[in-house]
Amino acid sequence: MNPIKLDLSGVRSFLDEQPETLDKKVLKIHHMIHDRTGKGSGFLGWLDLPDSSDSQAFQQIKKIAADIRKHSDVLVVIGIGGSYLGAKAGLEFVKRPFSKTTPEIVFAGHQLSAPYLSGLMTYLDDKAYAINVISKSGTTTEPAVAFRVLKKHLENKVGRDEAARRIIATTDGQKGALHTLAKTNGYDMLVIPDDVGGRFSVLTAVGLLPMAVAGVDIDAVMKGAKEAFKQYGTPELADNPAYLYAATRHLLYQQGKKIELLVGYEPALTYFNEWWKQLFGESEGKEHRGLFVASAAFSTDLHSLGQYIQEGERHLFETTIHVNDPGADVIIDSEPDDLDELNYLAGKTVSHVNKQAMKGTMMAHQDGGVPNLLITIPALNAETFGHLVYFFEKACAMSAYLLGVNPFDQPGVEAYKTNMFALLGKTGDEHNIK
Ligand code: PA5
Repeated sequence: MNPIKLDLSGVRSFLDEQPETLDKKVLKIHHMIHDRTGKGSGFLGWLDLPDSSDSQAFQQIKKIAADIRKHSDVLVVIGIGGSYLGAKAGLEFVKRPFSKTTPEIVFAGHQLSAPYLSGLMTYLDDKAYAINVISKSGTTTEPAVAFRVLKKHLENKVGRDEAARRIIATTDGQKGALHTLAKTNGYDMLVIPDDVGGRFSVLTAVGLLPMAVAGVDIDAVMKGAKEAFKQYGTPELADNPAYLYAATRHLLYQQGKKIELLVGYEPALTYFNEWWKQLFGESEGKEHRGLFVASAAFSTDLHSLGQYIQEGERHLFETTIHVNDPGADVIIDSEPDDLDELNYLAGKTVSHVNKQAMKGTMMAHQDGGVPNLLITIPALNAETFGHLVYFFEKACAMSAYLLGVNPFDQPGVEAYKTNMFALLGKTGDEHNIK
């Protein structure tokens, strides 16, 4: 049974052509993906990652995580883009609101803010901490700057040798500045497979080590991914929700919808949405094509973006993620004087109210001309996270190939770097590594 339910009833009436009509094209692309014959096919290593949970690399992640858990109060995870968002998304997805993990996981190197870095060092002054620096290329400026600064902070605090024992580098197995640095200083090293690109690397050490350190059950993450691996390995569009989702969003795009808004009604999904935006935005936005991907946290954003979605330009559609069992509930009590006029809700749960907010919103938005895809997931746990990650990765590959672009490169990301390096006076062409 598929734990993810895709409901297209809020979209079909908007479509001139139903997604099932793309079945032959989808079948062809399915074989192109699995036979590794499409554009960028050297980066399809993520396809088989769910099958790697008994690998040596997976055991090494668990061993290093157990070690960090023994000696650290905090793990600083340094990385950006695909080397940051997957772990952050997984932690937020699984964690109960207001709970603290031990060790605590904090992030750095995902921007260039000096107040952030300076505040982080003050925070770390009296903490026992370890660093996991993550960069596939090993040359990305934001994490490299943060690592240089934090490495010095740690060395000043515990000495060079002890610092080296507390630093774990997750990077390329052979090349890059971080690889050289880690080898030279004797850091523990976790390898990002050559054929797995940044935004598809959640199920490698990139996402799994920080999650394991925080106490997330990474066996469950891989179990969920493995179920997804089997389910979305089905070639036929009609039996494969990942392909149905991809085909539907493709048709909506062709019919003039330019923006897809991923919507969640649980704050735990906020960073999952960020991860999803990178996955689809970086994979599809090229050659002047592709949906612009955005996200919203409802019902919060109904009080800000809601007006636009209801009545603004009709160039968007929504994909709503509904969590069937959010994991905790609160009953609304009756009050004798009913001064807040809420007794009509007495005895109902907050989740029930949230669900009616979702239903009411979807109906209103559809009436206002916004197609709505609904994805229902069972719960906010590690298994569902692994499953949902793989669902979207598979859908993303299909969707980008339907669009006719290479899902696995990101040539446009270089433009700002070239300017920044010129402004900073960087010499040589070593930044052209990616
Ligand atoms: O998906 C990608 O490839 C990018 O978003 C990268 O993850 C991001 O640019 C960070 O790169 P790196 O891991 O090489 O530091």
